[in-house]
Amino acid sequence: MGWGGVGLSVPRHVACVMDGNGRWARQRSLPRTAGHQAAEAAVIDVIEAAYTAGVRWLSLYAFSTENWRRPGDEVDFIMRLVRRTLRKHAPSLYARGIRCRFLGVNDPRIPPSLARDVTDLMELTGGNRRMTLTVAFDHGGRRDIVEAARSLIRAGVPADQVTEESFAGHLPYPDTPDVDLVIRTSGEQRISNFMLWQVAYAEWIFPRVLWPDFRAEHFWECLDAYRRRERRFGDVLTPTTTGNGAP
Ligand code: FPP
Repeated sequence: MGWGGVGLSVPRHVACVMDGNGRWARQRSLPRTAGHQAAEAAVIDVIEAAYTAGVRWLSLYAFSTENWRRPGDEVDFIMRLVRRTLRKHAPSLYARGIRCRFLGVNDPRIPPSLARDVTDLMELTGGNRRMTLTVAFDHGGRRDIVEAARSLIRAGVPADQVTEESFAGHLPYPDTPDVDLVIRTSGEQRISNFMLWQVAYAEWIFPRVLWPDFRAEHFWECLDAYRRRERRFGDVLTPTTTGNGAP
């Protein structure tokens, strides 16, 4: 099966909550870290599928501000996995014209070697425009909103000049378009503090498959399901507001 159409109905921005790694491992009587390890193949498959489908913005939720509560060895494993994955795939991300960005990476607990690789990859791929891959790492949607409010106040913006547009301009990466489609694997149906501002009008799809088993064909099924949705952005349906195009 493949994705045939690059057209109006391809979501511009897809965001994935990569859930179910722990359950995948438990089903196999393996340590949780084995589930994270197996997640790498899904990450690479989804980047490739999104790129092939013509998705221009892909965001992946790799580590939340709440994930610091997990056992130390699991946190360490995720840090090492992210670093290994980035180093391994940097050349092909660059060659494909993918710009890599990181949302978060603020916490002093992040190993300096990983922070350095993140900076290097952003520099290497910064001129690319074919697709923007944003890895949300040490990310919290509420924290981003609070930081934006602080930044507005520091900039001395008068209260009556605070609009949705001016506010959004103080979020990290203000050029990021709203998310059109969120895919959360494993059947869980929660937002979990993910890109709260940007998902305001997103469509949500909750495939039951666990993230380590998620592959390009599942991604294409989600794009098909998205294409069949009617997005109204709070409006009523008229001949000019049908379809998936943003207003
Ligand atoms: C959620 O599953 C998964 C995570 C918290 C870690 C995800 C991180 C990766 C897949 C690494 C990605 C790497 C790059 C470079 C993008 P869970 O552990 O909460 O699963 P459970 O709900 O079944 O316990």
